[in-house]
Amino acid sequence: MEKPYQRILEKVLVKIKPKKAEETHLKVLSQKTLEITRETAKKYQAKAILAGSITRDTWLPGKQEFDVFILFSPDLPESKLEEYGLLIGREVIKELKGKFSVEYAQHPYASGLVQGVDIDIVPCYEVESAERIKSAVDRTPFHVRYIEKNLPLILSDQVRLLKQFLTANKIYGADAKTEGLSGYACELLTIHYGSFVNVLKAATNWKAGEITDLEKHYKPEDYPQLRNKFKNNALILIDPTDKNRNTTSPVSAENFLKFKKIAKEFLKLPSDKHFVERRLYSLTSRELKKLQEQRKTELLLVKFTPTKVVPDILWPQLRRFADRLKDILEETKYEFKVLRHDAYSNEKDTAVVLLEMEVFRLPHIQKRIGPSIFDANDAKRFLEKYNKPLTGPFVEGVNWSVEIKRKFLTAHDKLLDSLKKDVNILKAKGVPNYIAEQIAKEFEIISTEKKLNALIKKDNSFGIFLRDYFEKESLI
Ligand code: UTP
Ligand code: MN
Ligand code: MN
Repeated sequence: MEKPYQRILEKVLVKIKPKKAEETHLKVLSQKTLEITRETAKKYQAKAILAGSITRDTWLPGKQEFDVFILFSPDLPESKLEEYGLLIGREVIKELKGKFSVEYAQHPYASGLVQGVDIDIVPCYEVESAERIKSAVDRTPFHVRYIEKNLPLILSDQVRLLKQFLTANKIYGADAKTEGLSGYACELLTIHYGSFVNVLKAATNWKAGEITDLEKHYKPEDYPQLRNKFKNNALILIDPTDKNRNTTSPVSAENFLKFKKIAKEFLKLPSDKHFVERRLYSLTSRELKKLQEQRKTELLLVKFTPTKVVPDILWPQLRRFADRLKDILEETKYEFKVLRHDAYSNEKDTAVVLLEMEVFRLPHIQKRIGPSIFDANDAKRFLEKYNKPLTGPFVEGVNWSVEIKRKFLTAHDKLLDSLKKDVNILKAKGVPNYIAEQIAKEFEIISTEKKLNALIKKDNSFGIFLRDYFEKESLI
């Protein structure tokens, strides 16, 4: 390790390396689980392997978890794979005297809590090559083999440093909410660049559309085409086991820039603070008041109870819903304007779309500019449509115009009108399915400071979300 960093990284490692007792506990439990799973899986002609961070000593002590994969023949129908997977999982967790539950990814899988450890037992197909997979989890056995072969144990701690660094900065995890880097991506980057510090050094030089191709599946002359294939992926890390997949496709543009930024900051001023999650504070009502006075925008919120779906489904739908509400408000004929928008959920009983309005209130009167007087047909239609205007029809330049009574005077009224619909209309309007179902049942529009403050008071993490929203950190 290089001089200025060595002391700090060693200090960090003391904290993020599992203690011997914990390591032994996890290793023993994972071996025992593997044996039981193998025995149980035999009854279904299936095999079992350990996967994920336990196989290469790259787990972090805060996350007491390991992954077991059950490998079925590709001939088995999907419904059977799911059924047998859960049956085996249930039996294994029972034998380990743990607490069983069903988790959902692409397929449902078994999960158990055994002696404080989360065990994921995931069924997949054992296919010939990673290019022939039937579902995303089928890649995992290929990942395990690749990492086993290419990540020397001496690099495990370097991976841990990278994972902790990303965790502290909230960009570890390829799930839909985080949109960050997966454990596998951290392992690949460490293999490729050789150390934690070298990954950061490389990151500071990355340009949007950066390509990292460990196995040289592509030639440099293929790169422009490759960027086209992975359009809008800021970071392209070709999966060594499947050249058609970008391991870092979940990484958002924002998180790509954030990674570059924190890497630069750490290299410039190394400190162990970069490995500790910052404590965030809720926005206070005084701060909110001050912001309102400074910005002079109006806040408009749609609050509802999210349907019980997994976060990986909830978050994309919530973000689509937020985009959709912006579009509805900005439909040309209504003339409202959204400055920025965002979405929040505690993933339990509250989901909120926040719309910060640049144009919230409009005058009673609305001007409609029609076609040119030289365009006889269109003009006729326009004049027929607005046959009882408040003013006009008059001409501005060469265009027919009228003044009419505006339908919605505030964005609040427009939003209320658009959302007070039954489920099918909501869906037809582009409200994502699970959200449409909920909105049809209940929702609340919040636009007063008083109600907003009440919500902040009730839900601290909502207040933190608001602070994040207003104090958008610089990405350069
Ligand atoms: P994990 O999310 O547990 O990651 O997935 P990890 O590499 O073990 O890292 P940490 O230390 O727990 O954070 C384990 C394996 O399971 C597959 C991934 O390919 C990964 O290699 N997986 C996991 C899926 O395919 N789908 C999932 O929904 C979750
Ligand atoms: Mn894991
Ligand atoms: Mn897991």
